[in-house]
Amino acid sequence: MDTAAIAIRILQLTNDLNAHNHAYYTLSSPTISDQDFDFLLKELEQLEQDNPALALPYSPTKRVGGSVSKNFNTVLHKAPMLSLSNSYNMEDIKDFHERLEKIIDEPIEYVCELKYDGLAISLHYENGIFVQGVTRGDGIQGDEITANLQTIKSLPLQLQPSSNLPASFEVRGEVILPHSSFQKMNAKRLQELEEDGYSPEEITNLLYKNARNAASGTLKLQDSKEVAKRGLDCFLYFMVQNNLPFATHEESLNALAKAGFQVGTYYKKCTSLDEVTAFITHWETNRTTLPFDTDGVVIKVNSYAQQKMAGNTSKSPRWAIAYKYPTQQVTSILESITYQVGRTGAITPVANLQAVQLGGTTVRRASLHNEDFIKELDLHEKDTVWVEKGGEVIPKITGVVIENRESSSTPVCFITECPECGSILHRKANEAAYYCLNEAGCSTQQIGKIAHFVSRKVMNIQAIGEKTVASLYTNGLIKSSIDLYNLTIENILKLEGFQLTSAQNIVEGVKATTLMPFEKVLYAIGIRYVGETVSKKIARYFKNIDAIMNATLEEINEVGEVGEKIAESLFNFFQIQENKDLVQNFRIAGLQLEIQQIEAGTFQPLLGKSIVVSGTFNTYSRDEIKSLIEKLGGKNVSAISAKTDIVIAGEKMGAEKLKKAQQLNITMLDENAFTLLITPTEAENNTENPTLF
Ligand code: IVH
Repeated sequence: MDTAAIAIRILQLTNDLNAHNHAYYTLSSPTISDQDFDFLLKELEQLEQDNPALALPYSPTKRVGGSVSKNFNTVLHKAPMLSLSNSYNMEDIKDFHERLEKIIDEPIEYVCELKYDGLAISLHYENGIFVQGVTRGDGIQGDEITANLQTIKSLPLQLQPSSNLPASFEVRGEVILPHSSFQKMNAKRLQELEEDGYSPEEITNLLYKNARNAASGTLKLQDSKEVAKRGLDCFLYFMVQNNLPFATHEESLNALAKAGFQVGTYYKKCTSLDEVTAFITHWETNRTTLPFDTDGVVIKVNSYAQQKMAGNTSKSPRWAIAYKYPTQQVTSILESITYQVGRTGAITPVANLQAVQLGGTTVRRASLHNEDFIKELDLHEKDTVWVEKGGEVIPKITGVVIENRESSSTPVCFITECPECGSILHRKANEAAYYCLNEAGCSTQQIGKIAHFVSRKVMNIQAIGEKTVASLYTNGLIKSSIDLYNLTIENILKLEGFQLTSAQNIVEGVKATTLMPFEKVLYAIGIRYVGETVSKKIARYFKNIDAIMNATLEEINEVGEVGEKIAESLFNFFQIQENKDLVQNFRIAGLQLEIQQIEAGTFQPLLGKSIVVSGTFNTYSRDEIKSLIEKLGGKNVSAISAKTDIVIAGEKMGAEKLKKAQQLNITMLDENAFTLLITPTEAENNTENPTLF
């Protein structure tokens, strides 16, 4: 193709894909299969990669993010982004209407909308193209977050050709995080924090409290690729008036929808206060069925002429008001308290409640955080409690109904012994949590630690799940992770429920961990706060375990982005002889205790090979795997063809790619096989460019 033909193809693909995207995300009526969409997107990506100058600023490839900004630019809003005055009862709404009637001497129509619980944004369009997006900030100026907003699938990068909006305009709306995205994000964070050894109390503080906070945290991320993964969404609800060709707010909303914006189907024109009341009442009960949070209703005067008559105060328009719903709370009865023991020995009290309906879900449990929280509530056995849910993940107990308390009821006493092993619990200085200190003898802690060791993100021994760990432990075959290395097929087979293949897989899976890179081994040791990312940083900084074990606290503190708390935990860990012994045992087992340096040009097992990387991986990021391929002499290609030598197949590899690779009989490697392939043996380390196949 010559340059002109490429430019035309890029334009066509960009237009088509943006239109399909709008049909899928905003209209919910797809016009193409996912596979075909991905296929066209890949073609566009490749063309843009080969011809960067021809890429269009509104290309759908922007959706995946890419740019990393150090700081956001500050932008002055052309017109201040006002807030709304709040009301909490129908009286306030009546007053609002009467105030307006005094100013506007004609019938008043309203548009009632949901009040989205997210972050206000302002979007600028020039000639049908999204050119700039800004946060509300302090209402006068905000942060320019265009790249982050471009990743929101329902936000049009390019307007529909039928749009009747002005050539240049500003529209405002709300970025929200739908419940599904919020839950996914917090679940992932929870797992990571647990894996990294944070206490339940710390986890409670580190999790996002609600979808709004999570959306806010996401918009502030400087890596738009990360933003793209979070699943933000947005609704638009306000056109900044500047000679708009519309007479009413409703007309603007219709025009916005026609141009491709998501205005939602949740607004209604109301011609009387009764209709406004009906709208408010309807959503008060039905809002729990929505896939996102709303904290009220916004009532706006429909006519622009009337809005002008009403005007604004310095803070908010007089032509609009927000009706806020009260926080949803119900009462329930505390039936019992379960005390959970974590991998680190931290004890978490959880309230078991009489099942009760709240915000569309059945609530049976609520977190009690720690002893202080229970004392503050003055919680008694069998108390009637208030349970509240304000968009949070876990409902919380906010109070006790004292009147319902039986006179014989006694205050809840925090347990003094570990519910698993019976040893006396200790409360550490400056922490609210109690700990079971019987690390080695408390089965729950040990099983938790071994389960961490074998888990997918750590040593990735797929043949050993949590159940297998528990079974091997309770049958006395393993007491800690190091015992995994002494397992034999014979002694596993002596246990009930194990077949030859599963026993073989276990032993082989354990053996394969000797190929795991040092940073994974460091992570696997299970040092508190030393999680996946921190392990990587520390491993790369110190290069081997001896350097880490001999490092002073000051030296550890010098590792970039490793906080004091982490440094202290790492330092203290290696002051303990048993932990030093554990490392020695890992050494004997043959685990990697130093960084493998792969220098370009010396060891090149992939020399001249065309390689396609597909799907996601546990040990490597896609970028890491691609850079490894290059260092080892291989060539990264994006599409599978007869010329492809190897496909590195990760999880969620596309079905089409899989089929094609199979049809063409191309060698496929999973990540473990890839690791094996690129791990130099002693002999290869000393030779120049050995060819492995
Ligand atoms: S209209 C000049 N409509 O509520 C009025 N705001 O307290 C512009 N909000 O900052 C706002 N849903 O973040 C409007 N349907 C809706 C809304 C809405 C949520 C937020 C917005 C604003 C805040 C005002």
